[in-house]
Parts: sequence; structure tokens; C-alpha cells
Amino acid sequence: MLDEDGYFGKEIAAGYDDSAADMFRPEAVGPVVDVLAGLAGDGRALELGIGTGRIALPLARRGVPVHGIDLSRAMVDRLRAKEGGADIGVTIGDFATTRVEGEFSVAYLVFNTIMNLTSQDAQVECFRNVARHLGPGGCFVVEVMVPELRKLPPGQNAVPFHIGETKWAFDTYDLATQAMSSHYVTVVDGRAEHWSIPFRYAWPAELDLMARLAGLRLRDRWEDWARTPFTGDSPRHVSVWEKPAG
Ligand SMILES: C[S@@+](CC[C@H](N)C(=O)[O-])C[C@H]1O[C@@H](n2cnc3c(N)ncnc32)[C@H](O)[C@@H]1O
Repeated sequence: MLDEDGYFGKEIAAGYDDSAADMFRPEAVGPVVDVLAGLAGDGRALELGIGTGRIALPLARRGVPVHGIDLSRAMVDRLRAKEGGADIGVTIGDFATTRVEGEFSVAYLVFNTIMNLTSQDAQVECFRNVARHLGPGGCFVVEVMVPELRKLPPGQNAVPFHIGETKWAFDTYDLATQAMSSHYVTVVDGRAEHWSIPFRYAWPAELDLMARLAGLRLRDRWEDWARTPFTGDSPRHVSVWEKPAG
């Protein structure tokens, strides 16, 4: 249900770390932190959609000063309750428009979270907002899936991504508008519960154009955080755009 915390209210926040347990494994987090710490250098890092601190906490433990932006107080409360969480500055607000004091050497938006902005205008605004926060030579890093349109036969608009005994999950696509939703159906005590969250999908090239509109230029694009080369078969990309120095 949508509340003042957006789609990440108390109930979702309470179960977030368990439901994303795979993404919290050291093997998943380590390479992300390696890339971001390298880009941060001696500077500060800004996480858009900091959530419960999956990346921010280990990055801060590496010695990188991290500041976060998030819409959801419920998610940030979970971050605060963790060791080191109270030391991380967080601004509550929409990361497409919220301004934070100071300059950053890296800003990052991981785990498909750019898709939480459901209009092209908001996504463009987000790139502009990031560019305002970066110092010369600073980088914006986005990790996001490649839209799975190749899995859609003509006439079908749904792509299942989890089929279980008591839980099913699938994405629906509207090819005319680039709107997309993820749906989760779970059976609890014999009753089915449905939760869905809206997204907007975008191709890497559209994101490059948004970066150009914000004065950023593509520096790297990989399939993953291990810097595997991005190809036409890559299911996701990690893209790094740079604010030109001077
Ligand atoms: C999928 S979680 C990712 C959290 C964290 N980055 C991670 O990797 O685990 C998305 C987070 O982004 C936040 N969020 C989504 N849209 C937002 C927006 N427009 N402005 C600020 N925060 C937003 C949600 O509240 C949530 O905490």
C-alpha cells in the first residue's frame, strides 16, 4: 500500500533485508563497494535511495563519508537501528529534486532504483539533480536491469521472475508508455495477497541522453560490478557518467 513513505512503508521496510537477502551477501556487496570506494577517492559519496543501508554502511566502514537521500522514513529508521547507521547523514525527500549541502565525488543509484521514478521528466530531473551535487570529475553510477522485452512474445505483456509454492512474481510492461510494474502474489494462511510497485523502464541509450542533458558523459558501462563487458545479451548494466573537469 502506498503511504507517506512511498512504496517502502513500515511493513515493506520490516521485511526488506530478508526479502533481498541475496543482495546483502558479502559476494554481492563487496564488488559494489570496491567500485564506489575507488570512484569516491578522498571525496564524499551520495546515495540516492539509501534504504536500510545495504551499500552505504559497508562503504562508510571503508572510510568513505556517505550521505543518503530517501523518501521513506521507515526504511531510514531501519538504517538508523544498525551499527554505524546513526552516523550516516540522511535527507528525507525525493531524490529527483532534493538538494543536499556540499559537493560529492560520486553519486550512486543502485538495485534498479532509478526505475522508481515513473516519468521521463522525473528521471531527467534526477540526472540534473545529481550533476548539481558532483564536483568536477565526479561520477554518477547507476545499476539497473535492461528491460526484458525480448522475453515478451507478441500479444503478451507479462514476464514471470519467480514461480514458487506459495509465492509468484512477475513484471508487466506497457510498451507504448514504458510503464512497468512488478507484482508479487503470496499465499498467507490460505489467502492470496497481492503487492505491486510501478516503475518506468529505460534503455541504456535513453539514460545516456539524460546524462548528456545534465552535462555528464558516459565513462564506463559494464554488465556487473566485476566490470564484465556490457553486451547485447547483458541482463543489466552498471553505468558510470562523469562530470567533465573544468
Ligand atoms: C529497492 S530499495 C534500494 C535501497 C538500497 N539502495 C539498496 O540497494 O538496498 C529503493 C529505495 O529507494 C527509495 N526511493 C524510491 N523512490 C524514491 C524517490 N523518488 N526519492 C527518494 N527515495 C526513493 C525507497 O524508499 C527505498 O528505500
